[in-house]
Amino acid sequence: MMPGTSRYLHAIAVAMLLMGTMMSFAHADDDDDDGERMPAARNALWQAECGACHVAYPPRLLPAESWHALMSGLDRHFGSDASLAPAAEREIGAFLEKNAGSNRHAAGKPILRITETRWFQREHDEVPERTWKNPKVKSPANCAACHTQAESGNYGEHGIRIPR
Ligand code: HEC
Ligand code: HEC
Repeated sequence: MMPGTSRYLHAIAVAMLLMGTMMSFAHADDDDDDGERMPAARNALWQAECGACHVAYPPRLLPAESWHALMSGLDRHFGSDASLAPAAEREIGAFLEKNAGSNRHAAGKPILRITETRWFQREHDEVPERTWKNPKVKSPANCAACHTQAESGNYGEHGIRIPR
């Protein structure tokens, strides 16, 4: 080896390490709570039961305490009865809590709606009022009205089509 080569290599290694750290920071930051790159945690029972009336909302879009609260009140679920047999409720609850998001909310009651979270409102602040009122959308909770691949857990920009 030429004198100085190992120092040179060392400098490259340090630079690469730094870059890796920076990239993982950037990643952590934008992965924080927007959930767009969901590595789609899946569970067959959850998909079937929680996807019966609306898309099965991805677990990472709410923190564990929210899922816990939702699962404890399925008989009074936004005006519907979504109750499950105890074993199914346990399995789905465990799946949701295990894959929950880490975004915490202000102290007090856990938030029950993804659509009421800050990140949701920020992510959707450019959607005009008339779009929310479009009968083809009906409710902001109707993700699949615009996210054409919501069914498969994909909310990426390429799958978005705003109904007219
Ligand atoms: C019997 C029908 C039904 C079933 C089954 C059901 N839901 Fe719902 N869910 C609803 C209705 C109705 C709403 C309110 C939708 C709206 O506001 O447009 C709702 C809303 C929600 C919301 C809030 C959406 C938002 O951000 O506004 C979450 C979270 C949710 N459901 C989770 C679940 C989970 C988890 C399961 C499975 C354990 C489940 N749901 C099963 C009917 C159901
Ligand atoms: C009325 C149409 C509409 C509805 C309904 C809707 N979204 Fe969106 N969503 C959008 C638009 C528009 C954007 C912004 C895309 C952008 O800024 O590039 C977006 C962005 C997102 C993003 C970030 C995507 C990215 O790659 O940046 C996520 C995640 C998301 N929405 C999830 C949801 C979920 C979950 C629901 C249902 C609870 C929902 N959305 C309901 C239209 C909608």
